[in-house]
Amino acid sequence: MSHNTFGHLFRVTTWGESHGPALGAVVDGCPPRIGLTEAGIQHWLDRRKPGQSRFTTQRREPDQVKFLSGVMPGAEPGAWITTGTPISLMIENVDQRSKDYSEIRSSYRPGHADYTYDAKYGIRDHRGGGRSSARETAARVAAGGVARAVIPGVTIRGALVQIGKHRIDRDRWDWNTVDDNPFFSPDPGIVPVWEDYLDGIRKAGSSIGAVIEVVAAGVPAGWGAPIYGKLDQDIAGGMMSINAVKAVEIGAGFGAAELRGEENADEMRMGPDGKPVFLSNHAGGILGGISTGAPIVVRFAVKPTSSILTPRRSIDAEGHEVDVSTKGRHDPCVGIRAVPIGEAMLACILADHYLRHRGQVGS
Ligand SMILES: Cc1cc2nc3c(=O)[nH]c(=O)nc-3n(C[C@H](O)[C@H](O)[C@H](O)COP(=O)(O)O)c2cc1C
Repeated sequence: MSHNTFGHLFRVTTWGESHGPALGAVVDGCPPRIGLTEAGIQHWLDRRKPGQSRFTTQRREPDQVKFLSGVMPGAEPGAWITTGTPISLMIENVDQRSKDYSEIRSSYRPGHADYTYDAKYGIRDHRGGGRSSARETAARVAAGGVARAVIPGVTIRGALVQIGKHRIDRDRWDWNTVDDNPFFSPDPGIVPVWEDYLDGIRKAGSSIGAVIEVVAAGVPAGWGAPIYGKLDQDIAGGMMSINAVKAVEIGAGFGAAELRGEENADEMRMGPDGKPVFLSNHAGGILGGISTGAPIVVRFAVKPTSSILTPRRSIDAEGHEVDVSTKGRHDPCVGIRAVPIGEAMLACILADHYLRHRGQVGS
């Protein structure tokens, strides 16, 4: 199975399975002499870690990251410095329960990748879904921690903006509240609504979809490329590569279809520092595939978790009709833990485009 690598100059390969001994990422192309710490990378992994509230899977994984290569000790204890060689990051799996998955050894969970993996490879790791498990995304989050260090002037933040039909009130958006609730919500007012709603979903053995928004501030004008290397194209591809993502929008996204030209085009003025200012940001910070200097705004929708307790009609590998219900530990809404994953993907794509920009036109 190939296609485990993304990026051109900041190139990330992930490896490992949900129920293997470990998984990880190899980051090739990271520039030399960049300071990193395991604690710094761990910070991002801790935000994605399972079992942090009753609203995420109760799998207990410490997700402790280790550098295996590509760094040497820096000046301070715990500090590392990149050498320019491949950085290998490893995370051990410690809380596998393979027997939870024995019932889906030969049956296909509707909505999951069981059938397509079997159709393609003729073999699949039923223990947690193998490579199709979102355990793989821990490796991307670790790589995202390295990417952030490559572009220190860029601030990348994500938030959950919708669960089921319950949307945040955007007028109450406060980034400072995102880490103070179990949902990464920027609107404290929606938190009790989401709590009640998700408790109901969870107790019913069901699941629900969500929308995540990720914003990168501090990207200067000029990153990206026209035609086949568009920044928005790579961001959309990166977000779509996350498990369960079914739609991606940049800026006004699908909403742009309802706008008139004079509403949608972001008008420009000169700012006090001599740089252009956009009076709105329907473009989501990208025009012609190239960053405008305004914040890059991307949203993506995740579908409801497919492995649920409620029995669903399916078939098994021999073609028998069966009912499938999944007894393993699952997120009732994968959108919560998708927030740090979306941030990491945006960080990796932007680090790659920063290096590509520097390679073509200098810094
Ligand atoms: C953070 C996260 C956790 C997930 N956990 C589960 C899970 O517990 N059970 C499940 O059926 N799907 C889960 N998924 C989604 C599946 O991995 C995904 O639906 C599956 O690989 C099929 O791929 P696709 O939905 O992208 O087509 C999760 C996704 C994310 C982002």
